[in-house]
Amino acid sequence: MRKITIIGTGYVGLVTGAGISDFGHDVTCVDIDKNKIKKLNSGEIPIYEPELDTIVKRNSVKGLLKFSSRINEAIKESEIIFIAVGTPQSKNGDSDLTAIENVAKTIGKNLNKYKIICTKSTVPVGTGKKIEEIIKLNSKAIEFDYVSNPEFLREGAAVRDFLIPDRIVIGSRSKKAFKIMQDVYRPLFLNETPIINTNVETSEMIKYASNSFLALKISYINEIANLCDSVGADVHIVSKAMGQDGRISPKFLHPGPGFGGSCFPKDTIALVNTGNQNNIRMNTIEAAIKTNNEQKLRMVAKLKSLLNNKIKNKTITVLGLAFKPQTDDIRDAASTIIIPKLIKEGAIINTYDPVAMDNFKSLKLNINYFNNWQEASRGADALILLTEWNEFRGIDLLELKHLLKAPTVLDTKNILSVENLQALKFNYDNVGRKAIN
Ligand SMILES: NC(=O)c1ccc[n+]([C@@H]2O[C@H](COP(=O)([O-])OP(=O)(O)OC[C@H]3O[C@@H](n4cnc5c(N)ncnc54)[C@H](O)[C@@H]3O)[C@@H](O)[C@H]2O)c1
Repeated sequence: MRKITIIGTGYVGLVTGAGISDFGHDVTCVDIDKNKIKKLNSGEIPIYEPELDTIVKRNSVKGLLKFSSRINEAIKESEIIFIAVGTPQSKNGDSDLTAIENVAKTIGKNLNKYKIICTKSTVPVGTGKKIEEIIKLNSKAIEFDYVSNPEFLREGAAVRDFLIPDRIVIGSRSKKAFKIMQDVYRPLFLNETPIINTNVETSEMIKYASNSFLALKISYINEIANLCDSVGADVHIVSKAMGQDGRISPKFLHPGPGFGGSCFPKDTIALVNTGNQNNIRMNTIEAAIKTNNEQKLRMVAKLKSLLNNKIKNKTITVLGLAFKPQTDDIRDAASTIIIPKLIKEGAIINTYDPVAMDNFKSLKLNINYFNNWQEASRGADALILLTEWNEFRGIDLLELKHLLKAPTVLDTKNILSVENLQALKFNYDNVGRKAIN
């Protein structure tokens, strides 16, 4: 059993803490957000993430998982420190490393014996070295090893992804640190989960290369979908057939309103910036970002076109605010771009999302929130679907037709049956499948 502290108890930190305590280690999760720690100590999970509740409870009861605001003590008492604070995009597009740097200083000041300092946050290549320097500058020549251990979990499936990962990446030049990290992940090591041991820079690069490639795939299929729209092809059949080619894989070939979330938008931009700093132009990633930005605007144009360009004073129902289903995360979600654009055009917005409405309210937009899709749709001039929650897949289209003032629907996730929309004479559009007007 290892004594571990996780600094930053957000989507990644909390899942990591819960997951590692489930491996049998003694874990303390700390955060500067005292309210978050208070909630966790009273048994409340501050984010929506399936299965997290169960695993947190299970390990809290066993005494293996604790939550604390006493960051200095938690650092002093543990052998391994995971850094899992946010690295959001700053105004110039670079990763904002303020939280990382603050944590590195705090770790340095509280370094009292040998420790492994391990970064789980996504940080640009070269950051590991900086973290090491900051720790050294702030500590009293006490030995430590630095490890980069990027996280690949997907929100909405985070617990499963953490407990059954495709691979674990451990970047470190210390053999001792690698052995200890292998022990942290012992159940996975015994299960023969691939563990890649490399240097810190390669480890940092693996994370950006992976995320940017997935973003690239999404932008690629979105462009193909847009072309399908023009030439009368069906992108679902195109992507299915593409995915059957083992060299391509069917994953991340789902067209939609463009990628969002707390990772792809910022990580692609950060990779382009790292390229620029090293005089390597990341042309493909730049194109993926451009396509993605345009895709969101294309959805607004599609909706306007369904409404004969008359959007002023029209009531639009927006179904889905989260950047994807099974999460309450709205960071860089399509909704955060599309809704303000519609408001600017004079539309009145009615919305419903099963779990993300509280987070969306923090954006302080003047929109109407409802408790279900039926209430949000009543009397509206059109509906745009932005997140493929299961409950939207089951929408009764006849009921929807009766609720809407005019049966106009833009399904940006292609989850509603084209045949049924057609049979019910909806004024309908989607992404890359035949539009019905
Ligand atoms: N969310 C994902 O799906 C995902 C997946 C893989 C990697 N990542 C990366 O993991 C990192 C964390 O992402 P997240 O989504 O969990 O972020 P988050 O915003 O949900 O959580 C970050 C937490 O860190 C805390 N924090 C900030 N400064 C602190 C400090 N000085 N001391 C202690 N706590 C502090 C915040 O209060 C917050 O609770 C990012 O680098 C992100 O890119 C995220």
